[in-house]
Amino acid sequence: MKLSSANINVMVKVCRKAAKILIRDFGEIENLQVSLKGPGNFVTASDIKVEKILVEELQKARPTYSILSEEIGEINNDESFKWIIDPIDGTSNFLHGIPHFAISIGLEHDKEIICGIIYDPIKDEMFVAEKGNGAYVNNKRMRVSSRSKLKDCIIFTGGPRQNPKDKELFFVEYKNFSAIVKTPIRKMGSASLDIAYVAAGRCDGFWQRNLNYWDYAAGIILVKESGGFVTDFNGENRYIENKTILVTNSKIDKEMIEVLNS
Ligand code: IPD
Ligand code: CA
Ligand code: CA
Repeated sequence: MKLSSANINVMVKVCRKAAKILIRDFGEIENLQVSLKGPGNFVTASDIKVEKILVEELQKARPTYSILSEEIGEINNDESFKWIIDPIDGTSNFLHGIPHFAISIGLEHDKEIICGIIYDPIKDEMFVAEKGNGAYVNNKRMRVSSRSKLKDCIIFTGGPRQNPKDKELFFVEYKNFSAIVKTPIRKMGSASLDIAYVAAGRCDGFWQRNLNYWDYAAGIILVKESGGFVTDFNGENRYIENKTILVTNSKIDKEMIEVLNS
């Protein structure tokens, strides 16, 4: 089975085109690790190049849609349809030559995400979902895991960012998971792939504070269409306002909310 609506086809095509640049540039990164200047500027240039291709191609295919993209910000057209783009999610991994990063594109219709694609170009894994039509990884149907006890799970997280209060809260959450529940926690460095992996049943939950919309927009529909939940730390869907995001397989949400708030 495979998803092939008009919008999904556009997203897949655009993603594959931009990924060619990303794969080529990633090949250069290894050489740059040992140079004195380091790969910093090169990575920034790569980010901008990839974003430019994504934006240009999406505009060509859907000239009336609005865009929100990490580096360039907002392009305002028809507000009812909006692409939400993160050209490279997992920039630190990319910078260090770690092959774990993705292109992420979500499509919003009347403020609801209706399509999403997260593409890991190095592993050639394409995670796609469309409202009402299911979620797939490389054309294989995805389902969240069925683990129902937090102690049996693997949980992903990200951050903390520089804000000292966030750091403090993060370490409390981390301690509670690892000391009280003894759940293994992983920090993989790409929020979009973290969420895609919950959708694919590879991990059971994910939490993070202060994520930006482009980090998780595509992930929302992937998880919903795979049978999982996306909420804030209170179990409500006010993740944009509250700036906390919790993604689960739908079986461990209550236990996770308890630990996060303890
Ligand atoms: C970052 C990654 C990371 C998450 C950070 C994000 P970027 O995105 O998703 O996993 O912990 O909060 O900013 O900067 O690589 O696009
Ligand atoms: Ca990101
Ligand atoms: Ca990014």
